[in-house]
Parts: sequence; structure tokens; C-alpha cells
Amino acid sequence: MRSIIGKTIAAAAILAASASFAHAGDVEVLHWWTSGGEAAALNVLKQDLEKQGIGWQDMPVAGGGGTQAMTVLRARVTAGNAPTAVQMLGFDITDWAKEGALANLNDIASAEGWDAVVPAALQKFSKYDGKWVAAPVNVHSTNWVWANKGILDELGIAQPTTWDELVAAMQKVKDSGKIAVAHGGQAWQDATIFDAVAMSTGGPEFYKSAFIDLNPDALGSDTMKQVFDRMSVIRSFVDDNFSGRDWNLASAMVIKGDAAFQFMGDWAKGEFLNAGKKPGEDFLCFRFPGTQKQVTFNSDQFAMFKQGDTVSPEQAALAKAILSPSFQSAFNVVKGSVPARIDVSDEAFDACGKQGMKDLAAASESGNLFGSMAHGHANPASVKNAMYDVITAHFNGEYDSDTAVKEMVNAVALAQ
Ligand code: BGC
Repeated sequence: MRSIIGKTIAAAAILAASASFAHAGDVEVLHWWTSGGEAAALNVLKQDLEKQGIGWQDMPVAGGGGTQAMTVLRARVTAGNAPTAVQMLGFDITDWAKEGALANLNDIASAEGWDAVVPAALQKFSKYDGKWVAAPVNVHSTNWVWANKGILDELGIAQPTTWDELVAAMQKVKDSGKIAVAHGGQAWQDATIFDAVAMSTGGPEFYKSAFIDLNPDALGSDTMKQVFDRMSVIRSFVDDNFSGRDWNLASAMVIKGDAAFQFMGDWAKGEFLNAGKKPGEDFLCFRFPGTQKQVTFNSDQFAMFKQGDTVSPEQAALAKAILSPSFQSAFNVVKGSVPARIDVSDEAFDACGKQGMKDLAAASESGNLFGSMAHGHANPASVKNAMYDVITAHFNGEYDSDTAVKEMVNAVALAQ
């Protein structure tokens, strides 16, 4: 299985490496926004640029979380054919900046006043060595639950607020013959749930200590064992066909009423909206039980790869467009995320978006805002991938919880 995936990625990488350079006046954008909701959001950006006479060369690389996209990117850069702009997460940005591959966006940043409006938690990744190297397009967060309202109403299930209530709700759904949890068995999706379960089980200090500080005591703790035990509980509520399923197909199961819950970042909302569903009427969005005060965030940013000595006019126009307040509102309303600027009104956003903006501000204020481990905002890819391997092996029954805890400590030590 792994080798098939490996071969597919390698083939995609070779194909990508041979792709042509963008024409003058165009931007070539590498991204992983290939689901219906993501494509709808991407269109908002494409249309914005077209209005300015800038053409778009699309370089989509399917695969949520961006693992495949980053493999293709490495191949392109190695072949001397870097795309103009690349969707990137957290530490991937600073890792590429360290290699000297990214263009300096300081002129645009100061002309547009980015320093004053982009939150510090994002600037940590948008800037390297005092230079802006990426333009943040949004803030997503991973600790959300997406629920089919009709199923919950029919079964008399109230919105769960604690782990125990969640387990009781999942049991009730399972007893009714429906699927309790729509999930896709891919490493990044398993890890996305792990973000929420770890925060809920251990609280913010544990999350920070284990995922951000990589403290071996936290990684090897009884709390970590409890997190793995809870992952096994969730595993018992997914359907038999979960293995390899894409995240948007899991969202579709909740949308159609085949399953009650999906534990997923707020990009899932884009799928519900794209299917014509309304928050509060057709579906519910709420924080993963036990994480109501916390936000585990990730921000999609566009890094511009050096094409010459200075930023090209097209790159500058793209960066400027991405951070314009009207675009930030229009794009994020469709994408499911919230703006990457603090001065954008929540007026155009639905109830989930308004809550997302409120939660983000409150979590930031109260010290409850943390980078998502699953989406590259807690640690560089080497550590993230080491954690993915252990989480996935456990979710698929290769390790029991005790073994998983030991493997977690070892894998993280080796990856550093
Ligand atoms: C990105 C989202 C994207 C999701 C699923 C996340 O890592 O931040 O923008 O929608 O992956 O593809």
C-alpha cells in the first residue's frame, strides 16, 4: 500500500518537474485545493487576478494537508523549475525560506501595512529573518465537529459538550444503524482528529508541552496513553470502508445523512456550503467537546519562489490581492476559514464563520491559541511526519496504546 502511494507520488513529481514555466504576465500556482468547496474558493482568487489582467496557470496536486503537494514542489525546485507561487503551511514556509528559495515581499508588505493587521501568530510563519516571504490568505482551525442536524434531531441527541457526551452520542447513532463518524483513513486525517482529542484530553498545557515543546515526559505520559485510548474509541465508530477515503467524501457522508459527525478543520464547511447546505438548519458546527476555549490553527499562505533578483510584477500583484480586505472577506466566506487580517468585518460571514472569528480572537487573547500539529504549525515536517506514522499505525491497529506512546517518544527523538 505504502509503496503504491510512494510510486504515485514519485510519478506525479516527475510529471510536475517537467511542467513548463509560467508565461510572462501569468502566475503559476501550486496548491492542493481540489475538492468542490476548495475549488469554489480558489475561483474567487483566480477571478480577482483575472480582473487585473493576470493569467492563472493551475498546478493542483490533490491530497489534503498538502503532503503530496510538498513532494511535487521539492521535485520542481530540484529540477530548477519552481512555480511562481505555492500554497504552504507553517514550518514548510520557514524551512524553504531558510534554503533561500523565497522572494522578499517587504516592499509590498510595507506599502500595504501588513505588519499592523496580520496577527503575530501568523507573522511567525510569514516572515523569516525580518523579511516577509509569504502572504497569508486565511486562518483555519482543526478542532471542529461537523454534524448532520437532521440525524441529531431525529435521535434526540443534544450537541455534545464533553468527551462522555460525545461517546454517548456516537453510540446512539451507531445503535440506530447509521454511521456515527465519517472519516477518511489517511495519515493527515487521523492526525487532524488527534489534534482535537489531545487538546480535549490533556488541555492546553499538555498540547503545548507534547506537540510544540516536544517534551519527552509529555510525549510518553499517561495522558498520551489516554489520548490513544480515545482514538481507539473513535476508531470503533467509523465505518468499514474508511481506509484511504478522501476527507471531502467523508464530509459528503454527513451532508447526505449517511453519517452523523465528522471531526475536521473548517475547510469542511466549504463542502457543506458548496452542496447548498445551511449552518444551523442542515448542519451544525461546534468545537470538539472539551476544546471550547482553545483554537488549534493553521494558516494557508502563498510563498513566492524567487524567479530573479526581485519579486516579479505578477507575484507582487498576487501577494497584494491575497491580503486585500475585500478579498479576505469574499474568499474566506466560501473557504470556511476566517480572515488573516484583524480588521475585516464579520458581516458577510455565516454563524460558523462568525464563531470562528470570535473564537480566534478570544483564544489569542487568553493564551489558548496553538499551532496545529497535524497541519504543520507546531513543528517542521520531519517531526510532523514522524508523529503521523505513529498515530496512523495505532489507528489501524498495528500498535496498542502502550506501544504507540513508546513509539511516539522514539519517533520524535529520531526526527529531531
Ligand atoms: C489546508 C486547507 C485545505 C485542507 C484540506 C489543509 O491543510 O490548510 O486549506 O482545505 O488541508 O485539503
